[in-house]
Amino acid sequence: MTLPFLNRTLKTEGTQLPIQYKFPENFWWGSATSATQIEGAANVGGKGKNIWDYWYEKEPNRFFENVGPETTSDFYHRYKEDIRLMKETGHNTFRFSISWSRLIPGGRGEINQEAVQFYNNVIDELIQNGIEPFVNLFHFDMPLELQYEGGWEKREVTDLYENYAKEAFRLFGDRVKKWFTFNEPVVPVEGGYLYDFHYPNVVDFKRAAQVAYHTMIAHAKAVRSFRQSNTGGKIGIILNLTPSYPRSRHPADLKASHIADLFFNRSFLDPAVLGEYPRDLIEILSEHGILPVTQPGDSELLQAGKIDLLGVNYYQPRRVKAKEHLPNPYGPFMPDWFFDSYEMPGRKMNPYRGWEIYEKGIYDIMMNLKKNYGNIESFISENGMGVQNEERFIRDGEVQDDYRIEFVREHLKWLHKAIADGCNAKGYHLWTFMDNWSWTNAYKNRYGLFRVDLGTLKRTPKKSARWMKEVARNNGF
Ligand code: NOJ
Repeated sequence: MTLPFLNRTLKTEGTQLPIQYKFPENFWWGSATSATQIEGAANVGGKGKNIWDYWYEKEPNRFFENVGPETTSDFYHRYKEDIRLMKETGHNTFRFSISWSRLIPGGRGEINQEAVQFYNNVIDELIQNGIEPFVNLFHFDMPLELQYEGGWEKREVTDLYENYAKEAFRLFGDRVKKWFTFNEPVVPVEGGYLYDFHYPNVVDFKRAAQVAYHTMIAHAKAVRSFRQSNTGGKIGIILNLTPSYPRSRHPADLKASHIADLFFNRSFLDPAVLGEYPRDLIEILSEHGILPVTQPGDSELLQAGKIDLLGVNYYQPRRVKAKEHLPNPYGPFMPDWFFDSYEMPGRKMNPYRGWEIYEKGIYDIMMNLKKNYGNIESFISENGMGVQNEERFIRDGEVQDDYRIEFVREHLKWLHKAIADGCNAKGYHLWTFMDNWSWTNAYKNRYGLFRVDLGTLKRTPKKSARWMKEVARNNGF
């Protein structure tokens, strides 16, 4: 069945125009989502609570317009319709995450058979529609009971995570051939342990360092189990890489930018791809007495955790300058004791959300992977444009999101150039398929190809959905 919207004539992007930017054969076109952000059904189907369910119950006013994760876009009940729309939009791949607290309520013990049924249904429906499932295991959603026990601060949780990963490989590995251990592992560290935008709202660099370390230990255990399981397919991790650009070539700015890169990118990129931490990161943490606690055998474990495939989420770069003022000695010891952020004059901004737009960042990331990380197989696993009050752009019932089309097109041009220059990128996933619930921002910033009406949950394609379909169909533009 073809949906009427996709047959409308394209006003600006004629398919008859020669394709200037052609991507390699079998390029992955699709989008990414996460369980908590789209499933809804938070208290349905035997799901246990995760930290988001709990935090919302406790402090609903921390969430934009007091909207919590209990309903979201209701993918749990509407996945068939959504997958049909994905197919119509040219997806050949789609990333979603399994909710740990849905599959194993409480994080340990019995498998929830209703969850197995649900994820089986989603996987089968995707495959029947010619869409390869990419499955991520952890997307910010720690089961509440495990958070009570200390979450990623506790080494034991890495064993429970390994068990969860093993169960997922066993249950779904016959059909899922692209696995990811974590999405943006730095975000729960920043949000939960440094800057107070995720539960448990701790502000403590030493604890943050331990959480970051245990995340990568958990990752390595899952990769090791995956290899032992002989499931077949590939395993990776998804990192939000934020290229660090110094304000000047002054040694102090260069050093500041190097440290920001170590903290926010290389703390995860190096162990995931190279199987070890950067020496200078270890030195800085040790100088300040915040080295995480390790165990004998961890170096070998980290080596065993080397990935096959890297997902790169790219939104904006980090502009860095040397610290101009000494940090407040009475405040908490934080990463930004080492550097200041800097608002580069004249930089291009997303006027509807406030983030910088710097398309060449994609190219710089890819060239860095080529040069310093063995040209590891990779793909853009998230990129997209958030827009506030997007209803202001509705004309004739359709969001005229030309800004999003331009955003994606300009990023794709740089990705295309990186591929032409030899990087090993295999695909592009947009964030995201439909407007979804985004943590404390709830529905403040809309990112979807499809608009979701929060009253009726009706999905309506935006102009960008038609454009993306043409890009996927032509494998370029
Ligand atoms: C990255 C995260 O993976 C996702 O959860 C979030 O909603 C998007 N960025 C947009 O901010």
